[in-house]
Amino acid sequence: TTPLIIDTDPGVDDAFALALAAASPEVELIGVTTVFGNVPLADTTANALRLRALLRREDVPVAAGADRPLVHPQPKLSSAHGSDGLSGARGTLPEPTRATDPRDAVTLMRELLEAADQPVTIVPIGPLTNVALLLAAHPRLKEKIGRLVVMGGGVNGGNITAAAEFNVWSDPEAARRVLVDEDVPTTLVPIDVTHRCAVSAEWLAELGRTSATAGALVGLTADYLATYRRILDLDGIVVHDAIAVAEAIRPGLLAAKPYALEVDCSHGPGRGGLVVDRRLQAPGPENLRIATDTDFDGLRAFLFERLSSLGGA
Ligand code: BDR
Ligand code: CA
Repeated sequence: TTPLIIDTDPGVDDAFALALAAASPEVELIGVTTVFGNVPLADTTANALRLRALLRREDVPVAAGADRPLVHPQPKLSSAHGSDGLSGARGTLPEPTRATDPRDAVTLMRELLEAADQPVTIVPIGPLTNVALLLAAHPRLKEKIGRLVVMGGGVNGGNITAAAEFNVWSDPEAARRVLVDEDVPTTLVPIDVTHRCAVSAEWLAELGRTSATAGALVGLTADYLATYRRILDLDGIVVHDAIAVAEAIRPGLLAAKPYALEVDCSHGPGRGGLVVDRRLQAPGPENLRIATDTDFDGLRAFLFERLSSLGGA
């Protein structure tokens, strides 16, 4: 089993990502770190604690990280996930029986990496602030990271602005540090791929009937469903972050290509966007691949199979 750390800002699709990791024997979830993003840090952390209780994984430490971007303030929060980040339904989840870990996110990641006897996969599914701080402060620990599977970015335009995807836009300087300046083996899972793996309202309803735990998870989707109806005219949701976890569970599940990449850290309309060099003659980087394609029906079936095994009925 591969040791796994998820760095997250729950977030409805983050909740699906955590549940997928908890339901997958190929990985061992050894830590969860939280970051500001969809909602403020206090909310993302409270959500992570409740989700950990729902998934009956209170053995896994949850540590809070950055409450703001590295350099410039986040212009606004996401309105996509409802008032508390879980469609206003956090209170339907079980009360946590364990508190937040006393360590901050970077310290927890450092200690988990130092203690690991095999390469650790880190899956950042929120703004990249915590991971940028980790790599900047503890460069020698890069060798303990097997790979990063990052949900973020848009190759052909964004979702929060015309140019930018939400996670990269929330802290472009951190994203540049992680994706461009550091040299850790990374697979980037952009919205170009995640949007092709939307799940329908019917799929969700069917999943919700498989167990009480799955039912509680599906119970977090109301506002997020409304968002996707509004922004993509979809009768369903996009579970972006769960796709990154799926790739971490099954390396190579997503086809990916090495592309040279820049993150736009300017203060113009391109801020937080990716500049991807897709010219044939452009030399690709050794360590960064961008996911491009997969068997989307197969992936939806995989998500359903795993999430319907959560049990707890
Ligand atoms: C990303 O933004 C967040 O709102 C989601 O949780 C996901 O991580 C998609 O752009
Ligand atoms: Ca997220």
